[in-house]
Amino acid sequence: MSWIQKRRSDSYYQKAKKEGFRSRASYKLIQINEKFNLIKNGRKILDLGASPGGWSQVIASLNQDGLNVAVDIIPMPPLSGVIFLKADIFSPDIGEKLLNKSEFGYDLILSDILMHTSGDKSIDHANSYFILKRILEISNMVLNENGKVLAKMLQGDLTENIKQEYSKQFRRVRITKPPSSLPSSPEIYILAEGFSKKQ
Ligand SMILES: C[S@@+](CC[C@H](N)C(=O)[O-])C[C@H]1O[C@@H](n2cnc3c(N)ncnc32)[C@H](O)[C@@H]1O
Repeated sequence: MSWIQKRRSDSYYQKAKKEGFRSRASYKLIQINEKFNLIKNGRKILDLGASPGGWSQVIASLNQDGLNVAVDIIPMPPLSGVIFLKADIFSPDIGEKLLNKSEFGYDLILSDILMHTSGDKSIDHANSYFILKRILEISNMVLNENGKVLAKMLQGDLTENIKQEYSKQFRRVRITKPPSSLPSSPEIYILAEGFSKKQ
């Protein structure tokens, strides 16, 4: 990491500390949301890979009249306005667990999930591909018609493939990268809008 990038990343870290956010990741969601206006008050929103809760803080403040469910395999300190579920998205009963928290499904699924990075670019990319595939399966279990997904992926050979997979079920699929995400990082976000359930 160059010193300029380091200074930038540190400045978001400092900003998060000063503004009371649990992680610098909050700014990624704030910036994406400013651009695409995804989080609307009164909706049912699912935050996957939520701990320590930086995204959930942003979601809860914008969706005060809606339902906010956060999921992670590790615990998350309690957050007002957020229901936390400790679960692995790959567990076979995840759909049932999620529907127990929101009987009528979800309007928006957000995922900032990242598996432990191995340092090997192609392995990390492949893992993030499997996460995106799993999120598509979860969408078929719990996402409402016309719903949206925003999910982190590490860019690589399979990015186009996953875009195509999502395009089979979403009207519009785009890639975005917020200014607070380091340009040197392969991290991107897939934004998929206009969901139709598999028949
Ligand atoms: C980059 S962090 C999320 C940061 C969070 N969005 C925030 O703003 O504070 C990625 C999270 O994904 C979680 N995670 C990784 N694999 C997971 C899985 N299979 N199921 C659920 N959560 C998972 C990790 O435990 C970690 O907390």
